[in-house]
Amino acid sequence: MNSLDHTPSLPTQVIGHPCIILEETDSTNAELARRLQHQAHNTLEGITIIAKRQQQGRGRLGRVWHSDSQHQLCMSILLTPSVEENRLPQLSLVTAVAIWQALADIAPLSIKWPNDILIQGKKLAGILSERRSSYGAQQQIIMGIGMNIHMPDQGFPEDISDIATALNAHIQQPISRIQVAMRILSSLETYYNEWLAYGFESIRQQWWAAHAASQQPVRAHDGNRGYIEGIAMDLDSDGALLLHTNTGMQRIIAGEVHIL
Ligand code: BTN
Repeated sequence: MNSLDHTPSLPTQVIGHPCIILEETDSTNAELARRLQHQAHNTLEGITIIAKRQQQGRGRLGRVWHSDSQHQLCMSILLTPSVEENRLPQLSLVTAVAIWQALADIAPLSIKWPNDILIQGKKLAGILSERRSSYGAQQQIIMGIGMNIHMPDQGFPEDISDIATALNAHIQQPISRIQVAMRILSSLETYYNEWLAYGFESIRQQWWAAHAASQQPVRAHDGNRGYIEGIAMDLDSDGALLLHTNTGMQRIIAGEVHIL
């Protein structure tokens, strides 16, 4: 019996209702997008798809997300906020803080810009936020979360073996995928509601406190400008990372950073 076969009732009002668990799909983000094509769009906020295996997991920056074993939590959630468009990039940072908070009592998590979740400098989880279309004021965001729960029996694939880690390698009491999912869905509802009601500022401050590279030297790779080195000074309200460089303050709006 797989841990994902038992789904205790969720302590949430919207997020995770319904929570559909599939044996396998190509990508939970793609699966959710397909299902939305055949549904009335205005009643679906919170719908969640979890897959025990993904054959074509998608990562940020067009990368592959390895997730074809049963060791990972692969989950996508639909969010339909009625907010100004310029707030939408904040949502993946809100999700990162929600994940960080969901597991803070059991593991020493940190965040790396923009929304990687780390343990001891290695990547535990990633977030892929994909925007569908907008319906009037309502936006449709598919928030995909991939987290390594157990170490794969054969170890991680070679290309990520030095940089990836799994939750159960760092905690005393093993935790199941569904327990992790429930914690994240519950925390996401709390943070999402806070963001809708009060905006980003308090969450932005929590993000910065959890950021592994705050006030540290980093090398950022931003698709258009190449590599930029500097000290990570702050997170801007639009999600940009502010770097103090030799040529002054630079805003990193896309790409990724390496902590030096
Ligand atoms: C990253 O590159 O850091 C983001 C990885 C996001 C992976 C998750 S797994 C569930 C969802 N479905 C996908 O195809 N990708 C996301």
